[in-house]
Amino acid sequence: MKELGKFIIEGGRVLKGSIPVSGAKNAAVALIPAAIMADNDISTLDNLPDINDVKVLIDIVGQLGGKVDIAEEGAIKIDSTKLSSYQALSDSVKKMRASYYLLGAFLGKFKKAEVIYPGGCNIGVRPIDQHIKGFQALGAKVITEHGVIKVSAERLVGAQIYLDVVSVGATINIMLAACRAEGITVIENAAKEPHVVDVANFLNSMGANIKGAGTDVIKIRGVEELRGCTYSAIPDQIEAGTFMIAAAATRGDVTLLNVIPKHLESITAKLVEMGAKIEEGPDTIRVIGPERPNAIDLKTLPYPGFPTDLQQPMTAILSAAKGRSIVTESIYEGRFKHVDELKRMGANIKVEGRMAVIDGILKLSGAKVCASDLRAGAALIIAGLMADGDTEIDEIKHIDRGYERIEEKLNSLGANIKRVHTDDEEK
Ligand code: EPU
Repeated sequence: MKELGKFIIEGGRVLKGSIPVSGAKNAAVALIPAAIMADNDISTLDNLPDINDVKVLIDIVGQLGGKVDIAEEGAIKIDSTKLSSYQALSDSVKKMRASYYLLGAFLGKFKKAEVIYPGGCNIGVRPIDQHIKGFQALGAKVITEHGVIKVSAERLVGAQIYLDVVSVGATINIMLAACRAEGITVIENAAKEPHVVDVANFLNSMGANIKGAGTDVIKIRGVEELRGCTYSAIPDQIEAGTFMIAAAATRGDVTLLNVIPKHLESITAKLVEMGAKIEEGPDTIRVIGPERPNAIDLKTLPYPGFPTDLQQPMTAILSAAKGRSIVTESIYEGRFKHVDELKRMGANIKVEGRMAVIDGILKLSGAKVCASDLRAGAALIIAGLMADGDTEIDEIKHIDRGYERIEEKLNSLGANIKRVHTDDEEK
C-alpha cells in the first residue's frame, strides 16, 4: 500500500484561542444515503465535514447514477432523480464502514440492495447481524455471496424489532428501510446517539414519520413517498471532544464554536474530574486545562455514556496524569491498538482484555509512531502535543478519513504540526 504522508508534531506547545467544530462525520455518512431515498427530487445537505469518508460516499453516489454538486463550502446538492442502481459493488464501498447504510436506503427505495461487505476501522469484529435481523423482520431475504450482502423483499411490512445490542448502525439502517415499509415499525433497545436523532430529523423533513429518536424506543410509520429538502448536519461530538481533550492535555485555553454542549456532557464531566475548568455557552464550550490532569476511571458506553470514539484520545492524556487510571472499553474488543504506540513514547499502560491500567508518567517523549485507525490517530496527535520533543505519526490516511484538516485547526491554536508528503504517495 502506498504511504500517504506523515504528521510531525512539535511537543510542548500550549493551545489557545477558538476554532469552529465541523459537521458530524457519523451523521454525514448516514444523511447522504438517506438523501438518495428522495423520490425524483433534490436534497441539499449543509454543514458536512470535508473528510475522506464523505468524499468516498459522494463518489459512490455518483457511480450509482446520482448527481452530486458541491454547492458551497460544506454544502452538497444530491439529485437522485437518475439514481437507478441498487448495487454498490465498487472498491470504494469496501473502504468504509458506513457504506452499510446503502443497504437500508436501497431496500427502502428499491426493495432490493446489493452492497459489498463494509470495511472501516480495524477495532474489533464489528458484526452486522442486528442490521440483518431488522431487514428480515421487515420481510426481506438476506444472503451473503462472494462478499456481497444481497437483500430483497416483495414488500416491506412494519414489525416490532428488539435489538440484542445497542447499535447505532442497526438503528439507523432499520429506520431507513422502515420509512418505506407498510405500517408501523418499532425499534426497541435503539441507540440514542445524537446522530440517530439527526438522521431521524432529516428523514422527517423529507416526509417520513419517525417518533422517539433519542429514546430507546423508536416508532416509524411507513410513508408512500419521501421528498428532497434542505438540512444541516449537527456538529461533530467526537471532533469537539478530541479538541477538548487536546486543550486539557496542553494546559490550554480553547473555545470551541458551533457545538451542542448537551452532546458533550459525558466528556465535560470527565475533564472536570481531571481538573479542567469548563465554561458552556449556548453553542460554545471553553476548556481551560489543569497544570497536570488527575487520574480517573472511565468506561465507554452507548450515549449518553462516555463515547468509545474518545476512549483512545482519553488514554493518551491519562498516560501523563497524576496517578493510576483504569479505562474499560465495553463497546469494541480491539480498540487498544494505540497503546503500543503510546508505550513507544514512554507511557506505562497494561492492557488486560477490555481494560487498560494506566500509571501516569510525568511526560511522554516524542517518537516515531503509527496510526492504526482513525481515533488511534487522534490519540497520537494528542500524545504528540503533550510530549517532550518531536513526534512523527505515520499512516495519517486514517486520520483524514474522519477529521477535517485537523493540523490546520490545531495550528491555528498555536500547535506546530507539519504534514509531510512522501515522494511515492497519491497527492
Ligand atoms: N454490534 C453487533 N451487531 C450488529 C451491530 C453492532 O454485535 O449488528 C456490536 C458492535 O460489534 C459493537 C456494538 O454493537 O460492539 C456497537 O456497534 P454500533 O453498531 O453502534 O457501531 P457502528 O454503527 O458500527 C458507529 C460509528 C463508530 C462508533 C460506533 C459506536 C459510524 C460509521 N461508525 O459504528 O464510529 O464507534 O457507532 O458509537 O457511524 C469512529 O467514528 O471512529 C467510529 C468507529
